[in-house]
Amino acid sequence: MIDIFDKCRTEGGYFGPFRARGDHYFSRPVLDPTPGHQMTFQGQKVVQWSINNYLGLAENEEIKALAVEAAKRYGASAPMGARMMTGNTEAHIALEKKFAEFLKKEDAVLFNYGYLGVIGTIASIVDASDTIIVDKLSHASMLDGVFVSQAKFRVYRHNDMNSLEDHLKHINKTRKGGVLIVTEGVFGMRGDIANLPEICVLKEKYEARLFIDDAHGFGIMGETGRGSGEYFGVHDKIDIYFGTFAKAFAAIGGVAATNKAAAEWIRYNARTQVFAKSLPMIYVEVLSKTLDIIANDHERRKRMWANAAKIQSGLAELGFEIGQVPSPLCAVYVPAGDLNLGMAIIKGIRDQGVFITGVMYPVVPKGILLFRMVPTASHTDEDIARTIAAFKNVRDALKLNLGAAKSAMSQGDEE
Ligand SMILES: Cc1ncc(COP(=O)(O)O)c(C=O)c1O
Repeated sequence: MIDIFDKCRTEGGYFGPFRARGDHYFSRPVLDPTPGHQMTFQGQKVVQWSINNYLGLAENEEIKALAVEAAKRYGASAPMGARMMTGNTEAHIALEKKFAEFLKKEDAVLFNYGYLGVIGTIASIVDASDTIIVDKLSHASMLDGVFVSQAKFRVYRHNDMNSLEDHLKHINKTRKGGVLIVTEGVFGMRGDIANLPEICVLKEKYEARLFIDDAHGFGIMGETGRGSGEYFGVHDKIDIYFGTFAKAFAAIGGVAATNKAAAEWIRYNARTQVFAKSLPMIYVEVLSKTLDIIANDHERRKRMWANAAKIQSGLAELGFEIGQVPSPLCAVYVPAGDLNLGMAIIKGIRDQGVFITGVMYPVVPKGILLFRMVPTASHTDEDIARTIAAFKNVRDALKLNLGAAKSAMSQGDEE
């Protein structure tokens, strides 16, 4: 008889070889919990490039003090219950209104996690009679939302507008239900950005709706941090804009912003929130302040962009392949997607007091291996110089064939 636990003793499953050898270096490395541009790893102070602290707000003392105040007032428990029953407060309602105003949409719905918010939003707004067309490289939360919704679905080639249009045309030939296009705004692993201007043209031409998960654009992209739609000047055409609080907002939770009727529908039908306790008061209080900072402190965003330009150009000048960089993310491709080489580079860089992590399947398509580096507003010139020197030393010590990274870059883009 097969026991369902049998597989747990194999190297199968996600990151199986790392799990099997109890690795806490390449996967699940243990870090000091205080986030910042420098952190402690295995007793050593390291420059940190792997946390999504884009605007440096994880280190903001004013926000920390507010969290302490909220914890004193409410403890960790409040509010007790789901929004639908006993977990709704004036503060939750006010925060939704504030996000709706910032995002220039009629209404907004809070979620406890970005992941669950994306699933809940997609699965509530489409049903089995509808069709979803999703970009192939969309985050797992969107793909899971598609599966949970039980809608028919099609996958278009990554950011390929011909592929998207082919699917839209095909669906409209025999169309019965509605159509939702689903994509990331900034793609969180590679740092490229969805072709929103063309997607908006296509969604209007074929009468579809558009959902954007802008986890890595929210608070970051565009003149005022309203995200990837603002960056392209098409924010008003996005039907549902989703942002998580786990990145630039340095908290936890997420928000779906859309029109009044759709928001109200999501509020009452998104099972991942309807059947879950509401966002804790500590986060509700803190997020209101964080939003004020993000909406008004443009200098912070400028510092992040300046640091992004420095690290991206520094590594590119050394010959590293960093892909497209319309966003601050710096994705450094490992030559030929070679896992052993990737691990050697990580070790070599970390030994010099610089913390980077590798990203592999299933986070990115098979065959790709990259270091995903997140420049933040709080990195210093010294942090950046030390990092570039560490990459240079490893490049020379391992005699890296950097030309081979190019061919690994576009793997997985096909349909
Ligand atoms: C594109 C995207 N969507 C959703 C999520 C999930 O967000 P959260 O961590 O807030 O649950 C992430 C986080 O990795 C993400 O990158």
